[in-house]
Amino acid sequence: MSLSGKKILIAISGGIAAYKVHFLIRDFVKKGAEVQVIMTPDAEHFVTKLSISTLSKKPVYTEFYSDNGTWNSHVEMALWADVMVVAPCTANTLSKMVHGMCNNLVIATYMSAKCPVFIAPAMDLDMYVHPSTKKNLEQAESFGHIIIPAENGELASGLIGQGRMSEPGTIAKTVEDFFNSNIEKTLAGKTILITAGPTYEAIDPVRFIGNHSSGKMGFSLAEEASKRGAKVILISGPSSQVIDDKNVTLHKVTSAKEMLSKVFEFYDTIDIGIASAAVADYAPKEVAKEKIKKNDDNLTIELVKNPDILKTMGEKKTHQFLVGFALETQNEEENAKGKLAKKNLDMIVLNSLRDEGAGFKNDTNKIKIFTPTEKKEFNLKSKDDVAKDILDFVESQLLK
Ligand code: C5P
Repeated sequence: MSLSGKKILIAISGGIAAYKVHFLIRDFVKKGAEVQVIMTPDAEHFVTKLSISTLSKKPVYTEFYSDNGTWNSHVEMALWADVMVVAPCTANTLSKMVHGMCNNLVIATYMSAKCPVFIAPAMDLDMYVHPSTKKNLEQAESFGHIIIPAENGELASGLIGQGRMSEPGTIAKTVEDFFNSNIEKTLAGKTILITAGPTYEAIDPVRFIGNHSSGKMGFSLAEEASKRGAKVILISGPSSQVIDDKNVTLHKVTSAKEMLSKVFEFYDTIDIGIASAAVADYAPKEVAKEKIKKNDDNLTIELVKNPDILKTMGEKKTHQFLVGFALETQNEEENAKGKLAKKNLDMIVLNSLRDEGAGFKNDTNKIKIFTPTEKKEFNLKSKDDVAKDILDFVESQLLK
């Protein structure tokens, strides 16, 4: 989740484009951000506090005081935020922001905020091109705010031109790019190959042998490596995870054999290899051409060993730094260290199925890292944070 732990304050002002903010909030929340929404009193004509608070999972404030007499501290909300997004920003709110006309909660919060401010203006086309709007936008930019320009198209008035609020996806991307650009590019110039997800081994045209791996750990690693400036080759078995990142090339495969041959298309060019895929150890010896009929009480399928992709990578290692994963249920540390040596790895990440919240399908993981000479234990964390720990550790080893 690319916005994990980020605190986003959204201010909605009273324009028809306010309905689109539902999608923006959902997107931010899905990506792991905490979202606090405040609105101008007029915004309530366009969206309800109920729909917004349901999506943002927090109360929505429009006034300095709540009905029960409590104080909605604009200062606290302003200082809490990592970024503030004013969307839609009407001509009126823009003008108040620029001139410090502090007569509602949104402007008071804005004026107390020290964080970066994003402005997504929305207004009818003649208002958008009016010299006062242009001047106010220039002024807002001179304060260091980031303007997300309105788009061209049909406006609520029926007129056609510039003035539509930017699409929620564009606003979200601008905010995400901002967070990413602040991350130190510690892996710039490095190429990282990551295997992820399960493999499916066909039995017949409709059935396969697979496992419960979701691919989440590998995709989180790919996203984090990209943020740090690496070029990422992500080779994934069947997984519902998605990634839209210009530094990550996703190659989808199905079986272990396909994964092996894809890995070796790139192996010579990579600096770091991380094998987080849960590769099936065995595959059916023969794949039936037609769907197997249920005639007999018993069915025997002969299985043969799959290639061990990581072991093969270890055997052919020249300069690559290799990281493996071990998912163990017993003698965890001993088994993990055994694999580290047997597969000629530089580092292995152990997760135990005994730890609640760790392993397959969960959004969290609890790991221990081993190198031939070191051991480090970590707490239960989100897979995004685990990805950071793993890459921090890889980087510390590369510096040695
Ligand atoms: O031997 P084991 O399956 O426990 O090893 C786990 C590690 O080896 C993981 O990093 C996994 O991605 C990798 N592996 C592989 N090819 C296999 C089996 C495991 O790359 N056939």
